[in-house]
Amino acid sequence: MDDIEQELEQIQTEPELAVFHKNYLSKTGKLTMMLAGLKDMLAEQRAEAGKRLNELKRKIEIKFFQKQAALRAKAVNEKLKQDPLIDITIPAINQTQGSLHPITLITRRITEICRSMGFLVVDGNEVVSEFENFDAVNIPSDHPARDMQDTFWLTNGKLLKTQTSAMQNEILKKYGPVVSAIFPGRCYRNEATDARHEFAFFQCEGMMVGKDISIANLIYVLKTILSEVYGKEINVRLRPGFFPFVEPGFEYDASCPFCNGTGKGCNVCKGSGWIELGGCGMIHSNVLEMAGVDSKQYQGFAFGFGLTRLAMMQYAINDVRLLNSGNLEFLRGIKR
Ligand code: DAH
Repeated sequence: MDDIEQELEQIQTEPELAVFHKNYLSKTGKLTMMLAGLKDMLAEQRAEAGKRLNELKRKIEIKFFQKQAALRAKAVNEKLKQDPLIDITIPAINQTQGSLHPITLITRRITEICRSMGFLVVDGNEVVSEFENFDAVNIPSDHPARDMQDTFWLTNGKLLKTQTSAMQNEILKKYGPVVSAIFPGRCYRNEATDARHEFAFFQCEGMMVGKDISIANLIYVLKTILSEVYGKEINVRLRPGFFPFVEPGFEYDASCPFCNGTGKGCNVCKGSGWIELGGCGMIHSNVLEMAGVDSKQYQGFAFGFGLTRLAMMQYAINDVRLLNSGNLEFLRGIKR
């Protein structure tokens, strides 16, 4: 048995090592065959012989792998000596490094800010029930608001969520009645696509429910998030707006961070000084009650905005379709 070890020690090249493997360790190798032959032995001899054989095979295998690694390193070093032009420590020419997608960047930024303010960050499903997407947010089947979101229905009666609001019910049921959460996610609507419309886009929804939550809290939270995103003081203004799941409901605008609200020569806000961002309001009592929250004791606000839109403004992207295109030229061109 020592002979096998000695034979292994004397091997100097990779081809010799391959022959050794074939002779002893492969399926038809001597050691493997000896182990297989154990079954013909008498029971009392088998245990002892099996133990010894297994130990030997293990020992030889370890030495074999050590030898294999050493021979491989030797071969690489010799090759490098012969061809001094190869210096494996020099960084590659035309090195291209991967980078994060604009939507990922903006989502991470917002979740980081909201986490620091004590919000939970919740990840939602893309396939949801009709109840979650519509009924639970106060849009029953006969409500005209359903027609505003041309929906992809699945054959099992479920649908691709058209709005992140579809998560409200689940979150309230799971974490309510006192909860602060944001929930970014991909939404789908059957849109004819052009530079401003895509059938798959990203929204972010936020919600705070508890006792004595007010519109002042809502404005403060929006203002803080936006000021952190843009690294400067942003003003927020609310205009009356209708969304079935909030009462009162608003559309909200941010003072334009690109011209500091002056509007002068600014083609992001088209000279108005304000950017329309999304909808918000105090959560409708029906929505709270449908999630088992007592609307007499608890109230809260919700807001939603387009993450896709925010990313487009932030990275000066003028065609929404580029974001889903997987076009590397476009992605490389973005200044992060
Ligand atoms: N779900 C709305 C949409 O997709 C956006 C929205 C409006 C969300 C008002 C809200 C809200 O939470 O309070 O158009």
